[in-house]
Amino acid sequence: MEQRLRGILEDAMAEMSGITDGRTLEEARVRYLGKKGRLTEVLRGMGALGADERPVIGKLANEVREKIEAMFGSVAEKVEKAALAEKLGKEKLDVTIPGRRRKIGKKHPLTQAIEEMEEIFIGLGYEIAEGPEIETVYHNFDALNTEENHPSRDEQDTFYISDNVVLRTQTSPVQIRVMKSTPPPIRIICPGRVYRADTVDATHSPVFHQIEGLVIDKGVTMGDLIGTLRLFAKNLFGEKTEIRLRPHHFPFTEPSAEVDVSCWVCEGTGCRVCKGEGWIEILGAGMVHPNVLKACGIDPEEYSGFAFGMGVERAAMGRHNISDMRLLFENDLRFLSQF
Ligand code: DAH
Repeated sequence: MEQRLRGILEDAMAEMSGITDGRTLEEARVRYLGKKGRLTEVLRGMGALGADERPVIGKLANEVREKIEAMFGSVAEKVEKAALAEKLGKEKLDVTIPGRRRKIGKKHPLTQAIEEMEEIFIGLGYEIAEGPEIETVYHNFDALNTEENHPSRDEQDTFYISDNVVLRTQTSPVQIRVMKSTPPPIRIICPGRVYRADTVDATHSPVFHQIEGLVIDKGVTMGDLIGTLRLFAKNLFGEKTEIRLRPHHFPFTEPSAEVDVSCWVCEGTGCRVCKGEGWIEILGAGMVHPNVLKACGIDPEEYSGFAFGMGVERAAMGRHNISDMRLLFENDLRFLSQF
C-alpha cells in the first residue's frame, strides 16, 4: 500500500511537470484527487488494513494528498499567468485608430421654438395649459362666440369626426377649458397641435402648431396686451424689434388685431424676407369678448382679459430662414441637424 502511494506521488509529479494548459491540468486533478481518482481508491481500501498499520498508512496517504494538492496549486498558478500573458500580448490597443463617432440627437426645431416661447412666458409668471386635440364643436367654435355660419366651421376647412366633434382647428378652445375650470386671475399659454383641411404646400400643412395665450384679471387692458407682446417680440426676435397692430376680426375678441413684428433681417427697411414690407405678421390677438367670458361663467363687468394665438411653424421658419414648411415634417436628418 505504501508503495502504491509513493507510485501515485511519483506519477503525479512526472505528469504535472509537462502540463501547460488549464484543461489538461483539471483532467489530471480529477484522475488523482477526484471521487474515482487513484488516491481516493487507495484510501477506500484502508478498511482492510490492520489496526497497527492503519495510522501509518493514513499519515502517509495524507502527506501524499497534500503534496499533490500543493503541486496542482503551483502548476495552476503558472498556467494562469502564462494564459494572461498570452492574452495581453494579443490584445494590443492601437490608440491611433480613429474613434467611432456617436450620433447625438437633439430637439426638433419646432420643439426648440415652442420651448423658447414657453420660457419667455414662464418668466412673466404664466403657466402652461393643455387641451385635447380631438375637441367638441362647442369648445372649438360655440363657446368662442363663433357665428353659426362662420366659414371656419365649413367641412372644407375643418376635419369633422362627427357632427359635434372635430380635430381642433386652433388652440383657442383651451381658453374655454381653463376659464371653466379655474377661477381668475388666469395667466396661461397653451402650446399644441392643430388641424385644418389644407393641402400641403410650401406654407401650408394640415397639421401644425400654435401657442395660445390668455390673461384674465380685474382691470386688464389693451395696454397690457401690447406691453406683453412687445416684451415677447423683443425676447424672441431681438431687442430692436418693434410691434405693430392692425385692426382685424376674430369672433372671440373685441377689439381684435393682427400683430406684426419689424423684420428681424432688415429691421424695417424692407428686404426679401419681409417681401419689402419691413413687417412680418406673427399672431392674432385681442381683448376677450364678453360673450366668451359669459359662456365660461366669468362676469365681464368684473373681469377683463386679453388673448393671443400664434403659429409656431411660421415663427420658426422666419427665424431660421426656412422657405418650405414641408422640411419641418419630413424628418430628414440633413435638414434637422442644422438646428
Ligand atoms: N385662433 C386664431 C387662429 O387660429 C388665433 C387667435 C387670434 C387666437 C386672436 C387668439 C386671439 O387667442 O385672441 O387664427
